[in-house]
Amino acid sequence: MDIKVSNINKLDWSGSALALGFFADDNLSLTEELNQLDQKLGNTISELIAETEFTGKEGVSAIARVGGDSAIKKIIIIGLGKPEDVNLDTFRQAGGNIARIAKQGKVAKLGVAINCDNYEDEILAQVISEGIILASHQDNRFKSEPEESKINLDTVELLGLSASESAITKAQNIASGVILARELVNSPANDINPVTMAEMVQNLASEHNLELTILEQADCEKLGMGAFLGVAKASDLPPKFIHLVYKPQGTGKRKLAIVGKGLTFDSGGLNLKVSGSGIETMKMDMGGAAATFGAAKAIALLKPEVEVHFISAVTENMISGKAMHPGDILTASNGKTIEVNNTDAEGRLTLADALVYADKLGADAMVDLATLTGACIVALGNDIAGLWTTEDKLANELKIAAEAGGEKFWQMPMESKYFEQMKSPIADMKNTGTRAGGSITAALFLQQFVKDTPWAHLDIAGPVWTDKPNAVNNEGGTGFAVRTLVNWVINN
Ligand code: BES
Ligand code: MN
Ligand code: ZN
Repeated sequence: MDIKVSNINKLDWSGSALALGFFADDNLSLTEELNQLDQKLGNTISELIAETEFTGKEGVSAIARVGGDSAIKKIIIIGLGKPEDVNLDTFRQAGGNIARIAKQGKVAKLGVAINCDNYEDEILAQVISEGIILASHQDNRFKSEPEESKINLDTVELLGLSASESAITKAQNIASGVILARELVNSPANDINPVTMAEMVQNLASEHNLELTILEQADCEKLGMGAFLGVAKASDLPPKFIHLVYKPQGTGKRKLAIVGKGLTFDSGGLNLKVSGSGIETMKMDMGGAAATFGAAKAIALLKPEVEVHFISAVTENMISGKAMHPGDILTASNGKTIEVNNTDAEGRLTLADALVYADKLGADAMVDLATLTGACIVALGNDIAGLWTTEDKLANELKIAAEAGGEKFWQMPMESKYFEQMKSPIADMKNTGTRAGGSITAALFLQQFVKDTPWAHLDIAGPVWTDKPNAVNNEGGTGFAVRTLVNWVINN
């Protein structure tokens, strides 16, 4: 799909469909320019508005065929909501909705006319393009006969925006990171496992000239990563500790680290997940690693002046005669001992060693992302991720990055008193507390493995996956957190 900015006037444009954005207004009226276009199109626009009682409500849309041999074959109208309520994501969603209508309406060449005085044209062009690209992504890799259409959306022209081509390139680069993350999450555990995940990152590294270190099991043993290796024990596949680095041209820049939970499958271990508890979708338990490497791809393409380390301790949580037992005591690489009172709280064990490792890089800040707890989904629902940090500055940076990316996070308390729940009579700590406040104790557990680096923890268990499509996401992996991470890095 080719997207470009066009300076052709709406009145002179030709193509299979023109999409027009409208802000909400109970007495919607056409601008002078649209009036002229309406007359040229035999009143298609005004009649479509009247006949669908269209008032520009956010997300509401309609499509109509223009009669005769008009240069514009179809008109799409799309509501943007009240001008005072719009934010950047309004335009990403509008782009997504338009792409979906265009696909249904068999539109090959689409024009999009959306304006907003609140934002620079450059950023509008970027987010509209992001929405169009992301909505158009359909993961057909595992279909033997994907549904194919003879007419595909192949050209999009953004009209009436004075933006540069680089706004669109930026959208394409970010979207390619989001799509990589989605596809990794969608990939079943018999396709993406610790070994193939490492191969995928190897390819990413060679394609974009990134530094890559993969620690094998023996290397992890030398570093004393007993928590990570405890989880990995029951798998027939070797664990892979992946450390990918993007370095900018100049030196003396800020250094950031991103750590993703990388469980290519979480059976629960001997505390086996029962059917119906989500075991069927536990291929997505590497959503943190997927977002990490998706962001790596986008960052490698965008080339910001920031050094970024991408880390994941990748394994699967399985059962076998070699599996860790409930009650086992593991020693993490910082020397702390953990009584495993629940083998299904495995993500925090793998992250413990990954955080100890990342903390030693001397980064200015680090962020971990994990599909860590069902409790976070209970607290915040499927669309909102939890954010924990004691660093106000980092919290603010992440909130700003998330807002621009249209991703929702809610800051949760680091209630240190709750750590008492994880006191162990025999080791330094247990790996789980009670059901109450389960996402908070998980964050407090992780905090035990961070010493020097300003750190934030993002529990993305809910939003990495969706059962129903929306404007920009299809069913399955959403690529959640890639846009936030990329914005965070770029703004640094
Ligand atoms: N991977 C799960 C968390 C999860 C649940 C992610 C649902 C996505 C959807 C994690 O490893 C887990 O099993 N957590 C347990 C922790 C409990 C044993 C303290 C949970 O949330 O039930
Ligand atoms: Mn688990
Ligand atoms: Zn898990």
